[in-house]
Amino acid sequence: MSEGHDEILEELVGLAADGLDELAAVDDLGDLGAAASRFLGKHSRLSQLKAGLRDVAAEHRATVGEALNLARTQIESAVEDRRAELGEVATRTRLDAERLDLTEELGRDRHGHLHVITQTWEQLEDVFVGMGFTVADGPEVETDWFNFEALNLPPSHPARSLWDTLYLDPDGLAGVGEEQLLLRTHTSPVQIRTMLDAVRTGGGPPIHVVCPGRVYRRDTADATHLPVFHQIEMLVVDRDVSMADLAGTIEAFTKAYFGGDLTSRLRPSYFPFTEPSAEVDISQPDGSWLEVGGCGMVHPNVLRACGLDPEEWSGFAFGFGIDRLAKIRHGVEDLRDFVTNDIRFLEQL
Ligand code: DAH
Repeated sequence: MSEGHDEILEELVGLAADGLDELAAVDDLGDLGAAASRFLGKHSRLSQLKAGLRDVAAEHRATVGEALNLARTQIESAVEDRRAELGEVATRTRLDAERLDLTEELGRDRHGHLHVITQTWEQLEDVFVGMGFTVADGPEVETDWFNFEALNLPPSHPARSLWDTLYLDPDGLAGVGEEQLLLRTHTSPVQIRTMLDAVRTGGGPPIHVVCPGRVYRRDTADATHLPVFHQIEMLVVDRDVSMADLAGTIEAFTKAYFGGDLTSRLRPSYFPFTEPSAEVDISQPDGSWLEVGGCGMVHPNVLRACGLDPEEWSGFAFGFGIDRLAKIRHGVEDLRDFVTNDIRFLEQL
């Protein structure tokens, strides 16, 4: 060996010191592998010096060999320490990235609910079903006969002007024939359908039904009118029923739907399909009265149109505005709020 053993020992000390410095500066596991092979690999200076050991004078060989081993173990353990440190950093970084913040507020799922008119409709059905009524329905496109004529409103009847009717042009509608079609202006035609069905199926009265549904008028929307709105019709046909039964039924309904504090009253009025007829008012918490619909004893001509003998059967009926009932119950100022779909309004009901 050309170098003296002193120089080798000195170089080994420097080599180990350089190695430790460099390894301390490495901050990536890939770079660490490269540095390790540079200092410890087959072509490293350390390996060269080890290969040169046989040229060292015999009396110094053990000292140099020991120094070689020392340098190697120092570097090796520095590599292992650094590997452990870098591994720990990597694990911590990964865990930090994956950490779940269980206190984080993600906001609630937003659930919709039924529209307030649908809720009211269903509650009304429930109240009447609880009073022993069944629920019936009929079409929104009606014929003139069901909507008017059978209800004691012949074609020239002046009371027809009470209903601003939307008529349909039947041209081109297959199977419609000559019948005048319209969008029903009230749920009263379901009375006719119910009585005819009862007669046709042979069962006949007694009849106790409610008929909720959508109705149409040629009206401009304002705070108290909508061109499309909802009514619930009630019809009882039996032997010897009276106006007192009607008033009692309406009062029982008022208490069941609004609670014990509110009450109802009847005011004489006129409807072609009832005689006598009345308007129904419901008391307000502030002491005023709000009109919710009409009622009366079913007119003999209406019973006759359905094939029922007015000497044998009598009936009473009413028709209430569902939207109006919802308006009262929820203190809504303007009926149009029900249909303008402002989520801030709908969410509250
Ligand atoms: N159909 C009437 C309307 O829409 C309301 C009505 C009045 C219904 C009297 C009835 C009744 O059943 O007996 O204005």
